[in-house]
Amino acid sequence: DRNIQISAEGHLMLGGVDAVSLVKEYHTPLYVMEEDVIRDAMKSYRKSIDEFYGGKGLVCYASKAFSCKEIYRIAQEEQIGIDVVSAGELYTALCVDFPMEKVCFHGNNKSPEELRMALEHNVGRIVVDNLTELSSLSTIAREMGKIARILLRVKPGVDAHTHSFIRTGQIDSKFGLALETGEAMEAVKISLKTDHIELLGLHCHIGSQILDVEPFVHTAEIMMGFMADIQKETGAVLTDLNLGGGFGIRYSDEDTPVPYVEYMKEVSAMIQKKAEELSFPQPFILIEPGRSIVGEAGTTLYTVGSIKKIPGIRTYVAVDGGMCDNPRYALYQSKYDMLLANRANAPIAGTFTVAGKCCESGDLLGEHVPLPQAEAGDVLAVLSTGAYNYSMSSHYNRNLIPPVVMVKDGKSRVIIKGETLDDMVRNDI
Ligand code: LLP
Repeated sequence: DRNIQISAEGHLMLGGVDAVSLVKEYHTPLYVMEEDVIRDAMKSYRKSIDEFYGGKGLVCYASKAFSCKEIYRIAQEEQIGIDVVSAGELYTALCVDFPMEKVCFHGNNKSPEELRMALEHNVGRIVVDNLTELSSLSTIAREMGKIARILLRVKPGVDAHTHSFIRTGQIDSKFGLALETGEAMEAVKISLKTDHIELLGLHCHIGSQILDVEPFVHTAEIMMGFMADIQKETGAVLTDLNLGGGFGIRYSDEDTPVPYVEYMKEVSAMIQKKAEELSFPQPFILIEPGRSIVGEAGTTLYTVGSIKKIPGIRTYVAVDGGMCDNPRYALYQSKYDMLLANRANAPIAGTFTVAGKCCESGDLLGEHVPLPQAEAGDVLAVLSTGAYNYSMSSHYNRNLIPPVVMVKDGKSRVIIKGETLDDMVRNDI
């Protein structure tokens, strides 16, 4: 029931472009991103801030999902902010003159250089993760004669039901300050009296690829309660509440995500309810969706090479990429829908193990994947690869990182060039 476009010839169409012709032009592996899907998601998040919070809020695209100059240009055109987590992401945004007041800088262990860079460029909000960082940020801000505008990252103690590697709201997490232990309140009090620190508000993020609304609503409730507690204990009325990202997307039939406007609606209802109950002014709401903006926009195209049948056990279909361009199956056993882009209507012949070309057995893109009988030369399309694929790619085995091509209205353009073998040795001495 996914909305897949197939041409009369039986080729997969992406953004009005024939996937087979993309492969002829740009070769494989190839990341393809559909611009309309990205822009539509950004627009509807922005609209839901208008609709549900009367415009009092900001969508900050979590760019760790997919970071490059072009995505920051698009975010800027769609009038949303961004979340960055490293000097590298911040630098990329600076390269396209991204408005720094719309940037949230995250990380559980930002380096002094990164903090300095954020202050130098007047990043709108630095999200402070812990007390060590608070004190080094204050020292650096004093040296630079700057005021650091901060949010404190709080672990609200909500256990979101997602993979343990991407779950972050619980007490045993490397991210943030615990609410239950009083650590978060202590950090608030220290921030309020620390020089060169301006505490704007709080941040939380409970995890990623979360498919129910309930944990988000519960988190909003807890965070509003904490904002009111802060007012009671310190008199400070914090203005900002950043609710993080984490809205799930559809990778395969197993995932039934809630439309994100629905998340926004239900969370905002809770924010309003608590604001009234606690007589606390409705905060300025920030949200940080990453995956749900770019995930379903992406498709990776590979060429099928060797096929290996292991009688009675499985058949491997090997492609010319793998964990170096998509490590998500190796890391999280993530399921993806796949199809043959050059024979998109061919009947399913069974289930296959799709293997990469890297030198390790765990280098798979999927197991039990229903596919037609694949042959060498077929084009395999892996769907929903727009988030945490290119951004998590690696040079393992000195494989080249594939190019990224944007498609829209029947046209394609390269937004990240493919690497050459010379690029691979560029920094070798
Ligand atoms: N805000 C913060 C503070 C985050 O840590 C993250 C994701 C987000 C926002 C965006 O979450 P999203 O809307 O994309 O779920 N590599 C993993 C995902 C790691 C997510 C890390 N933080 C994966 O491939 O599934």
